[in-house]
Parts: sequence; C-alpha cells; structure tokens
Amino acid sequence: MRELASIVLAAGEGSRLKSKLAKPLHKVGGKTMLEHVIATLREVGGQRVTVVVGVAREQVIAALPDEGVEIAVQEQQLGTGHAVDSARDLYEGFEGDIICTYVDIPLITPATLLHLVEQHREQGAAATMLTTIVGDPTGYGRVIRDDAGMVAGVVEHRDADEATLAIREINTGIYCFRGPELFAALRHVDNDNTQGEYYLPDVLKWLRAEGLPVAGCVAADPEELMGINDRIQLAQADAVCRRRVREALMREGVSMIDPDSICIDAGVRIGRDTVIQPGALIEGDTVIGEDCEIGGNCRIRNSIVGDGCVIRHCSCVSESVVEDHSEIGPFAHIRGNSTVGRGAAVGSYTEINRSTIGPGSKSRHFSYLGDSVIGSNVNIGAGTITCNFDGYRKHQTSIGDGAFIGSDTIFVAPVQVGAGAVTGAGSVITDEVPDGALAIARARQTIIERWAEKRRQEQEGSAGE
Ligand code: UD1
Ligand code: CA
Repeated sequence: MRELASIVLAAGEGSRLKSKLAKPLHKVGGKTMLEHVIATLREVGGQRVTVVVGVAREQVIAALPDEGVEIAVQEQQLGTGHAVDSARDLYEGFEGDIICTYVDIPLITPATLLHLVEQHREQGAAATMLTTIVGDPTGYGRVIRDDAGMVAGVVEHRDADEATLAIREINTGIYCFRGPELFAALRHVDNDNTQGEYYLPDVLKWLRAEGLPVAGCVAADPEELMGINDRIQLAQADAVCRRRVREALMREGVSMIDPDSICIDAGVRIGRDTVIQPGALIEGDTVIGEDCEIGGNCRIRNSIVGDGCVIRHCSCVSESVVEDHSEIGPFAHIRGNSTVGRGAAVGSYTEINRSTIGPGSKSRHFSYLGDSVIGSNVNIGAGTITCNFDGYRKHQTSIGDGAFIGSDTIFVAPVQVGAGAVTGAGSVITDEVPDGALAIARARQTIIERWAEKRRQEQEGSAGE
C-alpha cells in the first residue's frame, strides 16, 4: 500500500470573518475548524498530518489538538499553491500520496476523503480534485472540463467570464496528489491572475500539459464541502454540524423534544432513553448517562451526569459530576469541580461551588454551598449559606453524615459539624459542632404580653393632637 499523508492549509488571514481570532480557531459545533479537519484526517488514517501556518501562527500552533502534527510555516500569504510549497522540505523524498485540504472546510467526512483517495489510486492519477455540484457557486473556483469530460483546470470566481460563472461544478478545495508530481508542478505555477496569487488548482493545468493523468471525483453531498469564509457561512456550518450530532444521538436512542432548539457540541456522549427538553445546551467534554431527563434551557458543560438523573429546567452544571439518580433544579447551579453524590437532591436557587455533596443528601431550596464537604444523607434546610470567603481566602465547611441543618443556618468557615448533629434554624455557626449535638446560635425569643394592644392605644389616643 502506498504511503498517505495530508497537508492542511491554515495560513491565510480569513479577512472576511473580521475577527481578532485566527480563522482556523473559529468553532463549528463547539470544536475549532482546525480540530475538525485534523480529526477527520486522522480517521482517514494517513501516516502524517502537516499543518501550514502563517497569519497568527502562535495562536494556531498553540491550538493544535495533538503533538503528532507537523508544522510548516508560510512566511507570506502568496496563495494556496505557495502555501503547499511551504511544506516542500518536509516532503523531500516522500513517494506516497498527499491529501491537500483547506482548514475552512470543516464538515468534510472521512468517508468522502477515503472515496477520493480510492478513486485517485484506482485511476492511477497524478492529481485528483474533489468537486461537487452546488445550487449557488458564488465565490468558488469553477471546474473546467475538456471535450472528453476530463478535468482541465479551475477558474476562480474573480477571474471568470460570464459563461464560466454559470458553471455549477466547483473546486471543493480538497485534492489527492502523488507527492513527487505535486512538488514538481508547484515549481511551475505562476501568479498571473486578478489576485496575483499562486493558486494550488493551477497545478492541475501543468500536470495535464505534461501529459500526466488528472482526474475529478464528484462528491454527492455538497453540504459537507461548504467553504467557510464569513460569519454567515460559519453559522450555516455550525447548524449542519449540530444537526448531525443530534441525529447521531437520536439514532443511538436519545429522545429530543423540538430537536432544532437543542444545541449539543460534537463529541458529547449521551446514553439511551435520556430525554432532552427544548432549548438545552450541552457543551464541551460532557457525558450524560442513560434514562436521564434534561430539562428545558439547561446548560451542561464539561461535566459527567450519571444514569437516571433529573436535571430540571434552567439549571447549569459546569465542570462537575452528578452521580446516578440525583435530582438537580429547577434553577440550580452546580460548578467548580463539584460532585453531587448518588441519589442526592439539589433544588431550586441553590448554588454548589467547589463542593462535594454526599450520597442521599438534600439541599432543596435556595442555598449557597461553597468549599464544603457534605457527608451522606445530610438534610440542608432552606436558605442555608456557607460564608466561605473572608475577603482574602476561601475556607472550608464540613458537615458529617446524617446531620440535619436547620433552615437559614449560616456557616462562618472554616467550621465543622459532626455526624448526626443538628443546627437550629436561623443559627450562625462559627464553632465546631460535635457529633450528635444540637447547636443553636441565635437570640432567644422574647414575648411581651399585650404589647400590640398598648401600642395601639398609645398611638390612637395621641392621634389628632
Ligand atoms: C479556494 C479555492 C477555490 C475553491 C474554494 C473552496 C484557490 C485559489 N481557490 O478559494 O478554487 O473553490 O477554496 O472553498 O485555491 N491559505 C493559505 N495561504 C495563502 C492563502 C490561503 O494557507 O497564502 C489557506 C487559507 O487559510 C484557507 C485556504 O488556504 O484555509 C483557502 O484560502 P481562501 O482564501 O479561503 O480561498 P477561497 O477564496 O475560499
Ligand atoms: Ca475559503
């Protein structure tokens, strides 16, 4: 089997995005275009992946998803042909095939690339261009075919005359070349066009003139070959990517109510029989188990949710773990590497931050638990607050198994409450509470008999004076 490598062009400016962020780092379905393209090339299974960087190269290099990627630098952006030529030294003596692709075609699938390589090899071509037929070819290079129907070259939109503009077969920006022929041809590409750039597709013209076989491979689905040049195309590609993610999950047994309103990043995993309500946003490195209910407008980010959990509407879970059969929300906020144990409940308007809530513990109504370690089967009354920050440092609150925390308890951290201890409602706890003890820290209630009546008499007697 011939060797296979790929070169990704990511050196251009991307001026049409009008962004401070480098073009390859713009995201589609929650992943950068660079990550998408490299992941797809890895799946195709080539031995080498080279990324050509130029504009904002530090940003792009820092965002490379893995160490194994080779880097070539294009010092000046003189065109796509010139960009590939920047990798010449790295490919000295390489005899295999090279897939060349632009970083701004993030939706390309491994199957289509494999098909391209297969066709290229079957036809014994020196170069095979992946083309497709689109409804609106505006902006793309048009494919010129000769009388025999063979690919003769590409004319860029800007360089095209009226008749050429009417052609709907476009250059997708993805090619398979025989390595030595590619680099030989690049020496002969000129910049005689409206942009004064060295165009990669011009390689095909030279190869043909040399009598070498040049082929075209027509991709059936133009959607995966969208080139992203501006924010409108970026949003369109994002929508396509997210639809693919949802459909793949639904095929695996996840239910979605009003799927178009649900936003799930590529790479998120969700178990079967989980039901997702409208407006949910599930991002990053998130794994959700089976038989869960994810409520409307929830946001779950970089988190693990176990099996059989209920995350009620408008709750946020980020960088945290929610173990099996827990109940969260509505309107709860779990963050900061917190863990909510098995069968625990965190209810409305409760925020959990950098805390561990043990199995079976409940904090059902408006509380703030920060920097706390809470044992199992603890009952946290409504309105409980940990004062974890003294203005300079964060301090811990720890509460033992089976403790019962009265409503509106305030813990001034650092403080410890023993197992099975009880705090009286409205207490401000500043000192350790031993196991099994009751702590009450509030003023005693005073009763003044008939006070209200006396006050009324006083006030009404003096009225009108
Ligand atoms: C390019 C193709 C066009 C094709 C379209 C498909 C050329 C000349 N034109 O047009 O035929 O239909 O893609 O989407 O190839 N780049 C560099 N260095 C440079 C210039 C560009 O690395 O000097 C990179 C860019 O980062 C980008 C890619 O090459 O990823 C394509 O450049 P872009 O300017 O977007 O080309 P298009 O006008 O879209
Ligand atoms: Ca482009």
